[in-house]
Amino acid sequence: MTKLNDIFAIESAAKDHLIQPWDEIKSLGSEIRPIISSAENIYLIDANGKKLIDAPAGMWCSQIGYGRKEIAQTMSDQAMMLSYNSPWYTTSSPAALLSKKIADFTPGDLNHIFFTSGGSTAVDSALRFVQFYQHSRGKPDKKIILARLGGYHGSTHLAAACSGDLTSKPKFNLDQEPISFLSSPNSLKLPDGVSKEGFCDFLLDELRERIKELGANNIGALIAEPVQASGGVIIPPKNYAEGMVKICRDNDILYISDEVVTAFGRCGSWFASEEVFGIEPDIITFAKGITSGYIPLGGYAVSDKLLKEVTEKSPEDSTLSNGFTYSGHPVSCAVALTNIKIFEDDKILEHVKEIIPYFAEKLKKLSEMKIVKEVRTVGMLAAVECHSSDKAAEKLGLIIDKHCVELGMIVRPIGNICVMSPPLIITKQQIDDMVDILQEGIFRASKEIL
Ligand SMILES: Cc1ncc(COP(=O)(O)O)c(C=O)c1O
Repeated sequence: MTKLNDIFAIESAAKDHLIQPWDEIKSLGSEIRPIISSAENIYLIDANGKKLIDAPAGMWCSQIGYGRKEIAQTMSDQAMMLSYNSPWYTTSSPAALLSKKIADFTPGDLNHIFFTSGGSTAVDSALRFVQFYQHSRGKPDKKIILARLGGYHGSTHLAAACSGDLTSKPKFNLDQEPISFLSSPNSLKLPDGVSKEGFCDFLLDELRERIKELGANNIGALIAEPVQASGGVIIPPKNYAEGMVKICRDNDILYISDEVVTAFGRCGSWFASEEVFGIEPDIITFAKGITSGYIPLGGYAVSDKLLKEVTEKSPEDSTLSNGFTYSGHPVSCAVALTNIKIFEDDKILEHVKEIIPYFAEKLKKLSEMKIVKEVRTVGMLAAVECHSSDKAAEKLGLIIDKHCVELGMIVRPIGNICVMSPPLIITKQQIDDMVDILQEGIFRASKEIL
């Protein structure tokens, strides 16, 4: 447990100096986020020694859980062997071996891997590859990127420009980028006159219309998460992803599948695009689960076909001038290799496939609660969406989270939605504990807002 005087020192350092993601600048320093001191298995331990189930697995990343000694040992060994390698001039064994390993997992001919330092830089780099590719093949006008409302692709410039929360865009000059937003595939927000059954056709027609309106010659790529994760675990209608890919292919538009959340076991497979959603994208981005959150790493996989086209069409000018000091960082790549080995040795994908139905069934029971509007699950990703008809309910997620923390679990609230995406090593007993706490938290919150 952290000592009291340590807590005081940590709190005052954070209050006086720390800016955290999505901080409210006007209240900076007035209150700080809870301090987490340590973690083990699926549990976080706060500064007072309280044990909390980590229901969101950090930020959808702690696949193998916390405290794995093999990972710590890999970090130490690799740091002593080769702590850094400049990817501009030399190559390291972990980066090379990891690229091969990932290529073995990707669908189709997505056989080449570019490493970045996280998910946003993966998305930005993938989008820069699209620009480079379209220029190289003599189609510089194919500049527009199609994205979706409710999508989240990160916080670097292009990734943020493609993210579908439009309210903050002008403040960051993100509205200047050539991005065109399509509807979110959220069947709880059907457009007027559209039925649930007709929703997929509506979305596909919208894409066709948009391409007609903007001109296929002006559109470079479409970027989409298989499941809109930060948008509230929005699971698209059946046949949607396949339909979107087909329309893109027919119109010479690249399809980027942003698997920063869904890859590395979250949906029971290394990558979800093909195995779960039946699509073979041109580019896949990944991050988070590749190291189970132990160290930053991200990247994208691109098809041999696209690379070949670049070299054929523009052999004299094919320098892909995009890269980071930490691209292919040897310690991060070594950790990723050990993480993958743990997945294989502990049969984590098999475990996930086995517990997915249990996870879904237990959570679905919560839809019997009056306040719960819908429970949706795919793989080990779930959203428990509550009714939000009155004002108090808009903050319902936060109220539920407060009660769950008292009861021993951190929830990831998004408005009136509780997101559950626990570490993939979770057992059936731990799923029972998680759902029991959530049920009681929702019950207490509903009494509080009545
Ligand atoms: C689908 C998706 N893409 C990209 C990102 C950005 O990743 P990072 O925060 O590692 O930069 C996120 C982050 O949650 C994400 O959910």
